[in-house]
Amino acid sequence: MEINYSRANRRDKQDVYELSLLLNKGDDTKTTKDIEESVNRALKNNLVWSAKDEDRIIGYVLCELFDETQLNFPNSIFISELYVVDAFRKQGVGKELVKMVLSNKFPKKYYYFSVTHDPKAFYLTDFYKSCGFEEKGITNAGNIKLTRKI
Ligand SMILES: CC(C)(COP(=O)(O)OP(=O)(O)OC[C@H]1O[C@@H](n2cnc3c(N)ncnc32)[C@H](O)[C@@H]1OP(=O)(O)O)[C@@H](O)C(=O)NCCC(=O)NCCS
Repeated sequence: MEINYSRANRRDKQDVYELSLLLNKGDDTKTTKDIEESVNRALKNNLVWSAKDEDRIIGYVLCELFDETQLNFPNSIFISELYVVDAFRKQGVGKELVKMVLSNKFPKKYYYFSVTHDPKAFYLTDFYKSCGFEEKGITNAGNIKLTRKI
């Protein structure tokens, strides 16, 4: 099985949108319109990377650039969405997607990477630590915060 990793573009919009719907399933704070808009915005800003099996997207990572006004992680590159479809999990795809982000050059203003995760998915702390992140406490909403130097 050969998985190809690359930056996603507008042609990938539908696939990324469908996976984002799966990732955000159960989150009542976001409408499908919100999800579509955030995918479109990230694609437009070149902030999405995908993993493809043949021509099918089986995983993606989507980032946001946080400016100095952001409460938890000012001036950082935030990993906002990371998703791998069930059949391809635990084969290193998620880690490779994070590596795509880590090896990208971002404007100097954004000088570290950030991410949060639900404490119930406890394995994610180890997952991000294995990608070089360090724990940095919790958000007001109770999610685990992690950051990594560029
Ligand atoms: C999180 C997710 C992207 C990981 O993708 P993946 O392709 O399975 O991850 P990898 O195969 O690259 O795993 C990397 C490491 O994490 C570990 N890991 C991954 N999933 C795990 C799980 N469910 N339980 C325990 N460890 C796990 C792997 O064993 C591996 O460790 P190693 O490098 O020491 O071998 C995937 O499980 C997913 O899409 N989950 C649902 C969405 C989600 O929670 N996204 C994260 C939002 S912050």
